[in-house]
Amino acid sequence: MIPTMASQDELKRAVASAAVERIASYFGTSAVIGVGTGSTADCFIDALAAHRGSIAAAVASSERSAARLRANGLVVVDLNDIDTMPVYVDGADEIDAGLSMIKGGGGALTREKIAAAVAVRFICIADASKRVAMLGRFPLPVEVIPMARAYVARKLAALGGTPRLREGFVTDNGNQILDVHGLSIRDPVALEDAVDRIAGVVTVGLFARRGADLLLLGTAAGIEEYQREYRRP
Ligand code: 5RP
Repeated sequence: MIPTMASQDELKRAVASAAVERIASYFGTSAVIGVGTGSTADCFIDALAAHRGSIAAAVASSERSAARLRANGLVVVDLNDIDTMPVYVDGADEIDAGLSMIKGGGGALTREKIAAAVAVRFICIADASKRVAMLGRFPLPVEVIPMARAYVARKLAALGGTPRLREGFVTDNGNQILDVHGLSIRDPVALEDAVDRIAGVVTVGLFARRGADLLLLGTAAGIEEYQREYRRP
């Protein structure tokens, strides 16, 4: 039960627990599950610890999450060593009604996108503040190869955004991040495609072609569930 006037942290813990309950009942003990990155994913990892006998192992989307999983007594495996992953659970910086997302506020967008691509189902866990009518108020993270940073920044500006280098930040893959401010993302799939085509872009933090399949949204009134209605090819 979510207390009245719940804090954002309480909402994160509530959706994390709701996700663990679903995983424990849907996917059984032999499943390897994908685990995302961020403060909501941290709550999920902590909640998962109580069920460590119920899952075989986890794939982590960042070194940070791998360390937290291990610290909680969970087995972490390499994505290359598994054939299937029934579910990936992660937070989002923004999520819209079509369950397209902006992700990468924590800088783990590339591994998150890989894990999401492999998983059969993507469960997004988020507090109510993450639900938006249109993506773009949160600066869109773009992971870039360092030598391409200036070129990619010019191309992103031509798409209508204002890119800013995330100072002092290096991704788990040794790359840099440009955070693109000022976008109103009317067509998330089209923008994802356009940014993906820029040479030097490793990953754009738009998760539209492969959005979430299920959103568990923590609100003051309780957990709301939203299913993705369609999947674009
Ligand atoms: C990390 C992410 C996170 O899912 C996103 O930043 C949300 O984080 P939080 O749960 O801390 O609000 O994409 O790269």
